Amino acid sequence: ISHLKRSIVEEESQGGDAAGNNVCGKLTEIFRTALRVAYPALTNAPVAVQPSQVEKFGDYQCNSAMIIAQQLKAQGSPVSPRVVAQQIQANIPSNDVIEKVDIAGPGFINIHLKKSFITPLVTGILTQGVLPPPLSKKRKVVIDMSSPNIAKEMHIGHLRSTIIGESISRLMEFVGHDVLKVNHLGDWGTQFGMLITHLADQFPNYLNESPPIQDLQKFYKESKVRFDGDEEFKKRAYKMVVRLQGGEPSIIKAWELICDISKTEFNKIYARLDVKNLIPRGESFYQERMNVVVQKLEAGGHLEFDDGRKIMFTPDSAVPLTIVKSDGGYTYDTSDMATLYQRVHEDKGERLIYVVDAGQATHFDAIFSGCRKLGWYDPNNVRIEHVSFGVVLGEDKKKFKTRSGDVVKLVSLLDEGLRRSLETLKEKGRDKVLTAEELKAAQESVAYGCIKYADLSHRRTNDYIFSFDKMLEDKGNTAVYLLYAYTRIRSISRKAEVLAETLKEAAKTTSIPVEHPKEWKLAKCLARFPEVISRTLDDLFIHGICDYLYEVANTFTEFYEVCYCIVKNKQTGEIESVDTGRLLLCEATAAIMAKCFDILGLHPVEKM
Ligand code: ARG
Repeated sequence: ISHLKRSIVEEESQGGDAAGNNVCGKLTEIFRTALRVAYPALTNAPVAVQPSQVEKFGDYQCNSAMIIAQQLKAQGSPVSPRVVAQQIQANIPSNDVIEKVDIAGPGFINIHLKKSFITPLVTGILTQGVLPPPLSKKRKVVIDMSSPNIAKEMHIGHLRSTIIGESISRLMEFVGHDVLKVNHLGDWGTQFGMLITHLADQFPNYLNESPPIQDLQKFYKESKVRFDGDEEFKKRAYKMVVRLQGGEPSIIKAWELICDISKTEFNKIYARLDVKNLIPRGESFYQERMNVVVQKLEAGGHLEFDDGRKIMFTPDSAVPLTIVKSDGGYTYDTSDMATLYQRVHEDKGERLIYVVDAGQATHFDAIFSGCRKLGWYDPNNVRIEHVSFGVVLGEDKKKFKTRSGDVVKLVSLLDEGLRRSLETLKEKGRDKVLTAEELKAAQESVAYGCIKYADLSHRRTNDYIFSFDKMLEDKGNTAVYLLYAYTRIRSISRKAEVLAETLKEAAKTTSIPVEHPKEWKLAKCLARFPEVISRTLDDLFIHGICDYLYEVANTFTEFYEVCYCIVKNKQTGEIESVDTGRLLLCEATAAIMAKCFDILGLHPVEKM
């Protein structure tokens, strides 16, 4: 037995190293070993390690004993969870992470960490920078995000997709994945027949002279009115669709003109939100590929006739996919079948992420299930998920609309954000202390930051209420509070008159102080960053990073209130002494916060 035990420990200690700076990951590996040795027959024993919610119960806790006791009971050999906990405790392999464990209540295993394990992790933040948890494999990640429709208003749902998608892509890039951001524009379909026909009627010379269309929405409405009221126009519009799909050059040109007007509008939003490298690859991109998909499905005998349509049933969805309409045209389903195939087989995507509103959940379930049935991807090698999100509500808890009931234009929304953020800064008298340039930077940081943060800090699957009043509050889990907190922390070393360079040097030789309980609490909190990233990488719930960021800020405040970093002479105000170790904690806190901001797409400023 002892021989067997050692070999497992060796194997696991490798796993432990692979966890690198991920504290929870390391503990999980240690307890996995303990469980395996203590209960070799239980192959599915869950390793439940998490940070302790209550400080006096230690730093982390392992809650596996209760679950295992239930499993044993179900197998007919009941043991009390406390005894299970003791059994696990007795088999913890030797390691450099755990100082001691104790068992509490019905069988909680409370874990106390070694200080010598945490301090180098915090020092590392200063000497090596904020590092992600180690990656087991670099993957190709394809993110479908934003995806508004040409000639229609980009609405608040698309804004959510843009903000969430952007943050997920930043997260993926940070940990080292190869990310492709795709803007799946609605740029194809029958509405282009009417738009192009209307364009050709209004601007017959469009091939030589760019039509001066300012308001594409208005243009859309005009053509829709003609389409609905004029049979002759309608016929021409249908013929136009065929010519467009046939690739007739002059018609393609008209289509491009219309798409370009919309894209220019969309790009203004992306520029303001600092969304870069978003590849416009709309539904039109898949036209030829849809032909291939239909041929494939037809040849494989997967299509059924239904009232002139060709449909396909999928194992996990009651609603079949419509692959070909009765008029021979393709649908949203067809394009997403072709899209998925393309992303797996051409882009070689290993993880596909669709950031799309929850209303489309059944659509994606059916698409994914259909593609699995066809063997188009192997879920063991390719991970495909619909990252769904709820709707944005107005302060009246009804669907987000303007007073007159129209959709809110995103440009005006961002403009209002700017106006309100400037107002807030002026109320605080910041316009009196900041230069014009600094004020403008702060205004933009707060405006775009608060809109993004309000969205990201809510669990994305919930609906959320859009309220400038709420998001501009300077207390609670808001961008304003956090941006201020960050600026204040950054200014501490400035006030201490210590240069960033000096601190960086000092980090190599000065150890991080963890004797005071608040120092220890802060150090542990900072060391949790990699595990938060690791978890978010899996569940893609970005609010977990926001919650963590908020916790870092609060833990810092607790520390700073009682642990003096700078001692000043009461009379002269002159600096008498500086606690370099504590300043290092301040710097590490700021570095972690800055990295979180970066992943969330927020831009903190030096002064605000
Ligand atoms: N254009 C669609 C809409 O506005 C969203 C597209 C999402 N992506 C996709 N692959 N279906 O609802």
